[in-house]
Amino acid sequence: RTVYVNGSYLPEEKATVSIFDRGFLFADGVYEVTAVLDGKLVDFAGHVTRLERSLNELKMELPVSSDELLEIHRELIKHNKLDEGAIYLQITRGAADRDFVFPKNAKQTLILFTQAKPISAPKSGIRIVSAPDIRWGRRDIKTVQLLAPSLTKMLAKEAGKDDAWMVEDGFVTEGTSCNAYIVTKDSKIITRNLSNSILHGITRAAVLKLASELDMEIEERPFTIDEAQQAAEAFVTAATAFVNPVIEIDHVELSGGKPGPVVTRLSQLYIEESR
Ligand code: PDD
Repeated sequence: RTVYVNGSYLPEEKATVSIFDRGFLFADGVYEVTAVLDGKLVDFAGHVTRLERSLNELKMELPVSSDELLEIHRELIKHNKLDEGAIYLQITRGAADRDFVFPKNAKQTLILFTQAKPISAPKSGIRIVSAPDIRWGRRDIKTVQLLAPSLTKMLAKEAGKDDAWMVEDGFVTEGTSCNAYIVTKDSKIITRNLSNSILHGITRAAVLKLASELDMEIEERPFTIDEAQQAAEAFVTAATAFVNPVIEIDHVELSGGKPGPVVTRLSQLYIEESR
């Protein structure tokens, strides 16, 4: 694979970052993951807008222009002949002697790499368990501090399931790396409202827009695991999964253990629209 580090395109084994990088020492950085479908970026503008917001919240700036960023994404797709998968981008505050105070003159670190992965293939659905949300209070910022969701996903894997929905004060926040939804028996889509408690998903915004264009009813509010277990269908969204059906929640099967009609339709239409 060819990767990008601070202005250079290099073979991955030649790419290095300082041991003093604050991304490594403090998780002092942000990231984005943009899907690639048929060699084209899905909703690049949305990802750059969120990236700028994340940087701003952490008192950082984009180290290159958004046009240059687009160019780097396209170069990597070309170099790696990426047809379907994702591009990972990370910006940290850079390398400086270890200190909790932000360094004054550090040069930010910008890295990108590609990951080939089938995202648009038909999905049989995932089984999830609930787990306490142990993350910090600014989940709206896409920081690289991913130990809490990683530990939580491991709980699900150790239980033989695919992912966890995290719960705070009795209500589902989101999946470990995806937004969470349920579909009521009268086909209303329910998903948690935007706040500091969840990541403002780019796929979420696109799927809700699509659903409202289809005249589907949407309610943005928190829901419990109990309500989710009684729902007709459930699903998650993320750049790396698009619309993914959920067929089991804490050992209760939904829609007969198979993806239901609403999720199947949304999933197909989202992929069509993204092509
Ligand atoms: N994760 N919520 C969380 C906590 C996430 O980490 C993600 C994305 C999402 C979905 O956001 P989007 O639709 O913009 O991808 C929601 C990425 C894919 C990851 O960490 O790999």
